[in-house]
Amino acid sequence: MGIKVRLDKYLSDHTELSRREAKAAVRRGRVSVDGETALREDVKVLSAQEICIDGKKIEAEQYAYYMMNKPAGVVSATRDERECTVCELMEGIHRELFPIGRLDKDTEGLLLLTDDGALAHRLLSPKYHVEKTYYIEYEGLLTADAEARFAEGVDIGEKKITRPARLKRKQDGQAFLTISEGKFHQVKRMIACVGGRVTYLKRLSMAGLMLDDKLAAGEYRRLLPEEVETLRRAAERGDGQSYGKEELLCGKEREDTGNLPDMGGV
Ligand code: URA
Repeated sequence: MGIKVRLDKYLSDHTELSRREAKAAVRRGRVSVDGETALREDVKVLSAQEICIDGKKIEAEQYAYYMMNKPAGVVSATRDERECTVCELMEGIHRELFPIGRLDKDTEGLLLLTDDGALAHRLLSPKYHVEKTYYIEYEGLLTADAEARFAEGVDIGEKKITRPARLKRKQDGQAFLTISEGKFHQVKRMIACVGGRVTYLKRLSMAGLMLDDKLAAGEYRRLLPEEVETLRRAAERGDGQSYGKEELLCGKEREDTGNLPDMGGV
C-alpha cells in the first residue's frame, strides 16, 4: 500500500518547493488530493493518490538522480563540520541525496548523486568493476612501460595489486586513465607508481555516463531517463565488462559504443 507521508513533505520531496513553500502552497489552496482541495499541510498522503498543484498532477518519482561537475575545493559528502560539501551546492533540491562514491577535495568532474541506495551500493561494489575515466595532468616522466604495468596491475600498497587499467598518454604531462575500482587516492597513487605526480585530476566518465560539458564547475542537472537506464545496466552487469568509446584506448572492439569523452583522437 505504500508509506504515508505528510503532504508538505511529499510536495517538497517531489517538486522544487521547499518545505516552507509547500506549506504556503497548501494554505493558499493550490494543492488538491484526489480532487479535493487540501486544507492542511500535515494531512498524510500516499504516492498512489492523485496530488496536484495548481491543477497539475505531480508525477512522483521514487528516486532522483543527478550529475554534478564537482568543483575543486568541496568535499564529496552530505555534511561536514568544516568543509563545504557537494550537497550544500544543491540548495534547491529537497531530497536526501548523497554522492555515489567520492572524489578528492581537489578533484573535479563527474560526480553522481542520488537517493537510490541500492543502485549506489551496486555501482560502488568492488564486484561490479564499474569503469571511471580520468583526465590527468602530472609532473615528472612516466616510465616507458607504464601502460603495460597498469594493464597488468600495480602494487599501490593495498592487499592486492590494482585491477587492469588503461593508460593513454595525450602529450607530455597529460594522460587519460580508466580504472574499474575506487581505492583511496587510487589515480594519484597509480601515477606515483610509474614516476609521476598528479597536479590536476578530473573525472570524465563513470559507468558509461559522460560528464555533460555544458555544466560549469559547481553546476548540476538531473539525469535523463536513458542515463538512469545506463546506470541500471552497469549495476546489473557485475561482470567487469566496460562499454563505451574509451574501449578504443586499448584497441578492443565492442558493440556498445556509448557517449564517452573525446580522448583526443585515440
Ligand atoms: N583517484 C584519486 O586519486 N583521486 C580521486 O579523486 C579519484 C580517483
